[in-house]
Amino acid sequence: MGHDFGDGFIWGAATAAHQIEGNNVNSDWWAREHAPGTPIPEPSGDAADSYHRYAEDIRLLAESGLTSYRFSLEWARIEPVEGHFSRAELDHYRRMIACCAEHGVTPLLTLHHFTSPRWFTEDGGWREERSVERFARYVEAVLPLLDAASHVFTINEPNILAMMIGGEKGGEELQAGSLPAPDPVATRYLIAAHKRAVELVRSVGVAVGWPVAPQQFFADPGAEEMLKQYAYPREIVFLEAARGDDFVAVQAYTRTRITLDGPVPAPETVERTLTGWEYYPPAIAEAARLAHDITGLPVLVSENGIATADDARRIDYTRDALRALRAEMDAGLPLFGYLHWSLLDNYEWGSYKPTFGLVSWDPETFARTPKPSLAWLGEVARGVRSLDD
Ligand code: FCB
Repeated sequence: MGHDFGDGFIWGAATAAHQIEGNNVNSDWWAREHAPGTPIPEPSGDAADSYHRYAEDIRLLAESGLTSYRFSLEWARIEPVEGHFSRAELDHYRRMIACCAEHGVTPLLTLHHFTSPRWFTEDGGWREERSVERFARYVEAVLPLLDAASHVFTINEPNILAMMIGGEKGGEELQAGSLPAPDPVATRYLIAAHKRAVELVRSVGVAVGWPVAPQQFFADPGAEEMLKQYAYPREIVFLEAARGDDFVAVQAYTRTRITLDGPVPAPETVERTLTGWEYYPPAIAEAARLAHDITGLPVLVSENGIATADDARRIDYTRDALRALRAEMDAGLPLFGYLHWSLLDNYEWGSYKPTFGLVSWDPETFARTPKPSLAWLGEVARGVRSLDD
């Protein structure tokens, strides 16, 4: 029984440091979670304690049949104070990479996943021109770790990050319709920082790109021009900036309707997930097609999934997302991998309520429990389960 995604297709799951490691105390997000009067509902705390339990997490991923693990290096740990690079923290990530090798898992590494060191953000963050040099200096410090990775992602979802800058939002608000317009200055420096990082990562011979999160805007009759203007700073500019990279990565979960008055939330009548987003599995295939059409590059799905307490619905969503991707491949899309968000239930930028994981854990003991969806995806990856089952 085959699923025809082809030999060499990358099958894996993704996480991000701040969302699973716990106690990321030198990061800007930690500061924000604990600021007096913060609008963030819940702090990250110990998260899934994956900082100490990564070996078990990698083992669970490998045992399911998945063969790739995307995780992020945490800049706030590696450079907790400007100019001080922690050898011990670099060693920590070196051990994680070695652990992947022991389990036959290929790492894909994200250099920046939403969090920055607190000192960086307090000193102007991505709104300052010197952010480009500061990020490049960090990338140089981690270069010796990167050659074990099959792919490196520079900055996760720069389009959402540019919308988060200036806003105090998190969780379910992490989509264009609920966020402020992207900060144009930050947009410019994020793109410049990406380009510097691409050069640096290429110097160690690893494929490099960045994951953009297209929003699957669709227009009401008459709102087509509005859609174009709305989409350009929110996604297109970041996809155009990927031209010339080794690949383009995409992450998508839902879609957004654009009316003559702008974006509107999904109506009450449609099924919604725990983030309040419309249940819409074709989103990722539409995102992949758009990214390829703009860049001409091979495409990697670096995140896709659903926040739900009903694991059977997670399987339904993922099956339909993969079917839609498979149909795009039949129509010529050069797609070379699928990484599910997320390996673990995690801190969804303000709340633990939206559960995206293939694995859950006990908040007191941190004991892991794989969900049926982990075995299901592993079987699809191994080609022993078809998408028609
Ligand atoms: C993406 C983020 C990821 C996670 C998912 C649900 O925007 O990259 O950290 O929050 O959404």
